[in-house]
Amino acid sequence: MIRRSYSAIAACLFLGALVTPVIAGETSDTRELIQRTDAEKAFILEQMRLLLGSIAEVEDALGSGDMNKVADEAAARGRKANINLPRPPGLSAKESDGWKSMFQSVRGGFDLIAEKAKVHAPAAEINKTLADTMRNCVACHETYRITVEH
Ligand code: HEC
Repeated sequence: MIRRSYSAIAACLFLGALVTPVIAGETSDTRELIQRTDAEKAFILEQMRLLLGSIAEVEDALGSGDMNKVADEAAARGRKANINLPRPPGLSAKESDGWKSMFQSVRGGFDLIAEKAKVHAPAAEINKTLADTMRNCVACHETYRITVEH
């Protein structure tokens, strides 16, 4: 019995080894490849992690009814707070209209969440605005992936 399960595991490992290169391979990923420098990629991904972190904090504050914290966390990711954010030079010129529009919708969405939190809008309404904002995260992630220029 034990020997039989070992051979089942071995068969799975063997099949896994056959299948994995296809899954990990370039051709199975149909998202558009966008070329960025190493520094630009690091900048973009850092901004992404900040977005995700703020979503966690916004949700936490919504859950505990701390509307001031919701407003602060959301405002930090909004357009107004990031208008003078130092960006790698030349990055904007590489961004497609689609990229810019989805990213600006994210920034605008966070500003809207901050405004709603300041006037103590219902949590459900703020959650809906966050969901609408996050559709841009989803859409952009479905569209692009980054490759580093050499
Ligand atoms: C304009 C396009 C765009 C928008 C909008 C966008 N992202 Fe991204 N994000 C990307 C791309 C491109 C990557 C890298 C994907 C890849 O190369 O596989 C990425 C990667 C990430 C990562 C991984 C970070 C890392 O360190 O690897 C996180 C987390 C993330 N995004 C969160 C978000 C969240 C949350 C939102 C919305 C609030 C969002 N993103 C909106 C384009 C976008």
